[in-house]
Amino acid sequence: MKIAISGKGGTGKTTLTALLGHVFLKEGNKVFLIDADPDGNLGVALGFSRAELSAVKPVSELKDIINQRTENNGSGFFKLNPKVDDIPEKYSLKKDNLHLLILGILKRGGGGCYCPENTFLKALLRNLIIERSEVVIIDMPAGIEHLGRGTAESVDVLLVVVEPTLKSIQTAQRLTSLASDLKMKKILYIGNKITGAPDIKFLEENILGKLAGYVSSSAEILEAEKTGSPVYDAAPAALKEASSIREKLFENQ
Ligand SMILES: Nc1ncnc2c1ncn2[C@@H]1O[C@H](COP(=O)(O)OP(=O)(O)OP(=O)(O)O)[C@@H](O)[C@H]1O
Ligand SMILES: [Mg+2]
Repeated sequence: MKIAISGKGGTGKTTLTALLGHVFLKEGNKVFLIDADPDGNLGVALGFSRAELSAVKPVSELKDIINQRTENNGSGFFKLNPKVDDIPEKYSLKKDNLHLLILGILKRGGGGCYCPENTFLKALLRNLIIERSEVVIIDMPAGIEHLGRGTAESVDVLLVVVEPTLKSIQTAQRLTSLASDLKMKKILYIGNKITGAPDIKFLEENILGKLAGYVSSSAEILEAEKTGSPVYDAAPAALKEASSIREKLFENQ
C-alpha cells in the first residue's frame, strides 16, 4: 500500500500522515512514514523527542553516501540508479514497527536539477513506492514534484487534504491536474478541521466530488502540538476518523 498525502500548506497533511500511519501499524503492518516536506515536522507529530530528531540527518544531507552511491566525482557524470535499498532501514527513526524517514531538501535548479542529491532522493522514492511491500505513506509539500513520472503512477492513492476554505480548494484543484498529468491512479479528497455538516457541503460543492472522509476540528490535536505527544495518542476521536478514512481507501476499486 503506497499513499501520498498533499494539499495546501497548513491543511493537515502531517497530522493525517501520523494518524493513518498509526492505523496501519495497529493492523499489524510495518509502516514507513516519509517526511518529504523540506520544512517538515512529521517527527514531532509522531511524538519523537527533540533529541531523537536532532540525532538523525535528513537523507539529502548524507553527502558521503550520496557521492559514493552515485559515484559522483564532480565531473558532472554520475550514476542515475544508485543503490538505495538499505537506506530506509538504516536511516529511519523507529518506534515499534513504525519507521520515520526524513528526506530533506530537494534542490531546485534552472530547468530541474539533475544533481546527485535529487537523483538519490528520487531513486529512494522509487524504491519505497515500487520495490517494497511495506505500507509507505508520504507527507508531501503542496507540490508533488518529488514523484517523478513512473514513480507517481505506482502510488496507489493520492490523498488531497482540504480545509473548508476557497484557498485550500484552489490548491486541491491545481494538485488534481498535476496528479492527472503524472498519471496517478486514484485521487481522493479528505476534509480537515471540519466543524459540521455545512463545511462538508461547502467542500463537496466546490471540489466537485465527494469527500472520501474527514477529520473534525479538534482541540486535542492542537493540544498535542503543545505537549509534543503523538497526535494519535492525544486525539482518539481524530484517530477513529482516520480509521474510517482508511476503510474508504479501497472502496469502488
Ligand atoms: N483536525 C484538526 N483540528 C484542529 N487543528 C488541526 C487539525 N488538523 C491539523 N491541525 C493543526 O493545524 C496545523 C497544521 O497542521 P499540519 O501540520 O498537520 O498541516 P500541514 O499541511 O502538514 O502543514 P505544513 O504545510 O506546514 O506542513 C497544526 O497546528 C495542527 O495541529
Ligand atoms: Mg506538514
